[in-house]
Amino acid sequence: MAEFKLPANSIVKTGKTYKAADGATNIKVFKVYRYDLASGENPSLDTYEVDLDTCGPMILDALLKIKNEMDATLSLRRSCREGICGSCSMNIDGRNTLACTKAIAEVDGEVNVYPLPHQPIVKDLVSDLTNFYAQYASVEPWLKSDTPAPPDQERVQSVEDRKELDGLYECILCACCSTSCPSYWWNSDRYLGPAALLNAHRWIKDSRDDATGERLDALEDPFKLYRCHTIMNCTDVCPKELNPAKAIAEIKQMMVERKV
Ligand code: SF4
Ligand code: F3S
Ligand code: FES
Repeated sequence: MAEFKLPANSIVKTGKTYKAADGATNIKVFKVYRYDLASGENPSLDTYEVDLDTCGPMILDALLKIKNEMDATLSLRRSCREGICGSCSMNIDGRNTLACTKAIAEVDGEVNVYPLPHQPIVKDLVSDLTNFYAQYASVEPWLKSDTPAPPDQERVQSVEDRKELDGLYECILCACCSTSCPSYWWNSDRYLGPAALLNAHRWIKDSRDDATGERLDALEDPFKLYRCHTIMNCTDVCPKELNPAKAIAEIKQMMVERKV
């Protein structure tokens, strides 16, 4: 189970409380992690009373209401508001997910909102994902072919070959999986993590790609690939219902098969 309840320890101070407007009766309490790297202050957990009668149904709606109407200093990322861009990933109620696709009604009691675990924090709910994106870039996520593209045509694939990419190409790089993986927490400097490995697998499986051997060579490393210990948090949390653990297992299997 991928539960990441953070302990109510002394490092995160109790912060400010923002009350709902007078007369509000349908109130939900949000406890939101606040941290400003520039201030040098310890993080705090601020409390916001949100009037659900004047708020949309999703956690992101509540966070935007907080930012627009109660506390403009709250920082978060979002763009599409429909689970496509991957920007609004965060830890909600102890679980990494997308704020725009998580309904407020799914959370009993207070809603605890934290940034993605084990990443440097820039401000509040905004993590620094520089390392995550560099790892994605390191798997060279583009087609490598020994032959030039046919003039004025696509490189065609059979229906069957195209189907092999289902469950891989849909990744939105939200980082929910990698930042839920304990192996990634401890070794994110050298372990590529489930998101980068799922994307590596997407290109390894592509029938039009001619660099399979080269791609596997690049992953043949005690840390880059083999720090996956099949913990499965990645697959449990993926908001697009992808299966990075399976993709990693298939890469490991290909490593064995090419040796024998
Ligand atoms: Fe997000 Fe799923 Fe892609 Fe991981 S595999 S980055 S959880 S969409
Ligand atoms: Fe981590 Fe997923 Fe492997 S949680 S250890 S990448 S199966
Ligand atoms: Fe784009 Fe949530 S805002 S995935």
